[in-house]
Amino acid sequence: MSQGSGPRRVVLVGFMASGKSTVGRIVAQELGWRFVDVDTLIEHQEGASIPEIFRDRGERHFRAVEERLTRELLGEDRVVLASGGGWAARPGRLRDLPRGTVSVWLRVTPEEAVRRAGQRSSARPLLAVEDPVRTAGDLLAAREACYREADIEMDTGRQKPEDVAAAIVTWVTGRQANNGAV
Ligand code: S3P
Repeated sequence: MSQGSGPRRVVLVGFMASGKSTVGRIVAQELGWRFVDVDTLIEHQEGASIPEIFRDRGERHFRAVEERLTRELLGEDRVVLASGGGWAARPGRLRDLPRGTVSVWLRVTPEEAVRRAGQRSSARPLLAVEDPVRTAGDLLAAREACYREADIEMDTGRQKPEDVAAAIVTWVTGRQANNGAV
């Protein structure tokens, strides 16, 4: 594969609890690439949990750190990123990705997201509200147009993470074999 063509990194986007970390870890393992969960990296760098960062430093601060770290990671090759659910929700974000980046939207319904977040909803400050399904629905509706700009769209409701990951790996390796630009 010539330099500058074919997939060199994968970024998983989508709503909270859509399975970005679970699927991303499997995809990275299959491809033999590095896996990075951006939320976890932020927590390490900030020395605080996501809810603490939101509470003590504010969402603006969180978004600035998230933006900087994700941009740095998008400069790496052979990496799979599980982005934070809000990262891709900016107009044009997925259109402006560096060459060689495959973006994948993992779809989930608000009901399923809240169900999966379950008792750990306290770890997701945006869902720690009175009516999380309604909030998730509103947030998802506002973000959907941005998520839809991803190269690939996968429904996570009826498929196991392993199957979702396998489909992504097939897509990536197929493009590599064809030297397909992304
Ligand atoms: C957020 C999603 C979270 C985390 C933060 C904000 C969002 O990541 O970055 O709580 O705005 O959707 P996950 O998608 O990994 O839950």
